[in-house]
Amino acid sequence: MTIEHKIGKTLSELRVQDEGGVRALFEEVWSGIESERRSAVLAGASSEAEREQLARALRDRWLARKHGILAQVDEYWLKLAPRELKPAVGREFNRLRQAIPELEVEALVRSIPLRSAKSTSIASAPDLTLPGLRPELGSIHPVTRVQREIEDIFLGLGFRIETGPEIESVYYNFDALNIPESHPSRDDWDTLYIDADTLLRTHTSPVQIRAMRKYGAPLYIVTPGKCYRHDNPDATHSPMFHQCEGLAVDTDITFADLKGTLDFFAKKFFGEKTRTRFQPSFFPFTEPSGEVAASCPFCEGRGCRTCKESGWIELMGCGMVHPDVLRHGGIDPERYSGWAFGLGIDRFAMLKYDIGEIQHFFQSDVRFLEQF
Ligand code: FA5
Repeated sequence: MTIEHKIGKTLSELRVQDEGGVRALFEEVWSGIESERRSAVLAGASSEAEREQLARALRDRWLARKHGILAQVDEYWLKLAPRELKPAVGREFNRLRQAIPELEVEALVRSIPLRSAKSTSIASAPDLTLPGLRPELGSIHPVTRVQREIEDIFLGLGFRIETGPEIESVYYNFDALNIPESHPSRDDWDTLYIDADTLLRTHTSPVQIRAMRKYGAPLYIVTPGKCYRHDNPDATHSPMFHQCEGLAVDTDITFADLKGTLDFFAKKFFGEKTRTRFQPSFFPFTEPSGEVAASCPFCEGRGCRTCKESGWIELMGCGMVHPDVLRHGGIDPERYSGWAFGLGIDRFAMLKYDIGEIQHFFQSDVRFLEQF
C-alpha cells in the first residue's frame, strides 16, 4: 500500500496499535518526502519557470491546506487517533511539521539546480556514493602466450631474439634462401606483392640472412613474427599466421646438435615424456632437411582424435643450413656450419590448448579469448 492510500485511512483501519507502529508509519512519510525532494534536486530544471513550477507542485502535494499529505495526516491519523496513541502520533506529527520550511517554495527553488548551468547542476556532477566502474581486464592472447613460452625456452639455452620486417624484399624472402625465380617452391609460398621487388614475407627464414649479415658467426637466434601466404582460411590455415625460426651457426655444429636441441625443446614445451621423430624432407635452404614430429601429448602416442590416431604430431621443418645460404649471409661455410628450424606458433597454440580451428585466434571473439 502506498503512502497515498494510507493517509486516507485511520490508524485502526491501518491496524496500527502501538507506538512502534506509529513510528513506522511516520517513517514512511519521511522517506516519501525525502525521495521526492531528492528526485527533484537530481533531475534539475531547464529554466527558472520550470524550477518554480516543480517547487510549487511539490509544496502543494505535501503542504496544500485541504488535500496536502500533511493535512490528511492531521485529519485521519492525529485527530482520529485512539486516546492511548494520541501522544505518540502528536510527537511524530510535530516532528513532521518542523520539516515544513524545507518544503516551502522558496527553499525548494533554491535546492533545485538549473540543468543548463553546468557548475550548479548536481544532476551532471558525479555521484561519489555510486560504486566505481570496474574496467574489464584483458588477458594475454593465446598465440602471444605460446610465443613467449617458446622464446623463454630458447632464451634459457643462450639464444637471443631477433626480429625482421614483415614487408620484405624478394631477395631476402626467396633468392638469398636458394629459391630462384624459376624454383617451383616460389609458387607454394607466393604472397601479396607490394611491387616487383617487395612482398609480405612468407616465412621468418629471411631473418636468418639479415641476422648473419648483422652479427656474423657464432650466432644463436630465434625469430618470432607474422607471415603471410595466399592460403585460403580453413581449420589449420590462415593467410596471416605466426612463425618462429631458430638458427644456430658455429664451428662444428652437426645434425646431432639440431636433434638434441629440438628434442629438449619438445620435452620442455609438451612435457618430459614427449619423444621426437625426425624424417627426411626438402627445403631449398637446408641440406639435409627434415620434418620433426612429437609423440602426441594428449594420448602419449597411443592414438587419438588430435593426432588422427597416428600417435604423432607434425611440429616443424628443419635442417642443416645450406652452404650457399651461409654465403649469402656473409659466413664462410668452410669454417662454420649451422642448423635451422621453422615452426608455426599458431599451430603450437592449437596443440597446447587443444583448439581445432585456427580462425578462433583472429576473430576477436571475447567469449573465446577470455578463456585464456
Ligand atoms: C617454412 O616456412 C620454412 N621456412 C621452415 C623452415 C625453416 C624449414 C628453417 C627449415 C629450416 P613451412 O612452409 O612448412 O616451412 O611452414 C612452417 C610452419 O608454418 C608449418 O609447419 C605450419 O605450422 C606453419 N604454417 C605454414 N603456413 C601456414 C598457414 N597458412 N597458416 C598457419 N600456419 C601455417
